[in-house]
Amino acid sequence: MSISHKQSVQPLFQPITLNQLILSNRIVMAPMTRSFSPNGVPGADVAAYYRRRAENGVGLIVTEGTVIDHPAATGDPNIPNFHGEAALNGWAHVVKEVHKAGGKIVPQLWHVGITRRTRSEPNLDAPSISPSGIDLMGEKAGEPMTEAEIADIIKAFAEGAANAKRLGFDGVELHGAHGYLIDQFFWEKTNRRTDRYGGDLVARTRFAVEIIEACRQAVGPDFPIILRFSQWKVGSYDAKLAKTPEELAQFLAPLVEAGVDIFDCSTRRFWEPEFPGSELNLAGWTKKLTGKPTITVGSVGLESEPSHPKDEHEMVDELVERLARDEFDLAAIGRAILADPAWAVKIRDGRDNELVRYTSDRLTTLF
Ligand code: FNR
Repeated sequence: MSISHKQSVQPLFQPITLNQLILSNRIVMAPMTRSFSPNGVPGADVAAYYRRRAENGVGLIVTEGTVIDHPAATGDPNIPNFHGEAALNGWAHVVKEVHKAGGKIVPQLWHVGITRRTRSEPNLDAPSISPSGIDLMGEKAGEPMTEAEIADIIKAFAEGAANAKRLGFDGVELHGAHGYLIDQFFWEKTNRRTDRYGGDLVARTRFAVEIIEACRQAVGPDFPIILRFSQWKVGSYDAKLAKTPEELAQFLAPLVEAGVDIFDCSTRRFWEPEFPGSELNLAGWTKKLTGKPTITVGSVGLESEPSHPKDEHEMVDELVERLARDEFDLAAIGRAILADPAWAVKIRDGRDNELVRYTSDRLTTLF
């Protein structure tokens, strides 16, 4: 790689301070479920996995989705919990290791709500839950959540946020994307409630708003709260919560008001314009409409594809140009960093001939 390319990636390596979150560069490790935590307890191998990324130039790690204290929050016993002494001790060790390596880390707090997995493989006593007893395919599945269940889950998110602070994490991310529980409230297909948690797009933010408010209450004014949201859902890639910038503004306003510091705007391809007539992507629009810092994500560093026939240099260059234009503040990288813990430093130093490419067999180990 040429010197000019090395210089051109520099904006990705500029430090940034986002209130209390002081980051050495703009590279975020995207949250990725790994299922290497037997009985929900993250062990030394999980700590080493995150530490390797911190040592190798990742500015901020967002952990895999980790489950809040509610019996229906996941159906997979190898996904880490974010409750109970053993799991929390495991997380404390993860934080210690990442900090020793000079990194920053936030947990991604997760409740899956109703999914095919929780429906078809219920290995928990409690039934899976959802806003309206309707699954992501639009089919009837169980009963709508009661107000008491809603209150329990809000409390469990807030306890998770309090524990994140107590364990020394650098902030907390709430998983409000991809068709999981919070997103099931956002989406009209799965939220048909007629109480205050349902209705128009703004009313459907109510559940998230109460979670964010409760988390804010639990962690105080200075602890960073990141919200991940997406238009797309598992199994419905073309789903849209907001069809226009005006609708996106309406959707985001109550979330900002409730106390979100940073929006993690999940898209599958960062270069895709969110709305016709502008090149801005979801993170670009979200920053423009709210004035809040945003994280972009989606296929950075992966092999080029027909919809984007560019090589990796050109793709990273496009990311950097958008970053330098202030379209967004941070860039999350998922599979490329899963495959190669040293992705960030190799990109920084122009050693991309040494990059280990993502293939799905990388999912079978925790290296
Ligand atoms: C993910 N993704 C994801 N997202 C999330 O919010 N919470 C999660 O737990 C997971 N789990 C997960 C596991 C695996 C194996 C993959 C590949 C992805 C989505 C991820 O954070 C990211 O948004 C996408 O992978 C797109 O980024 P890349 O991989 O194209 O850089």
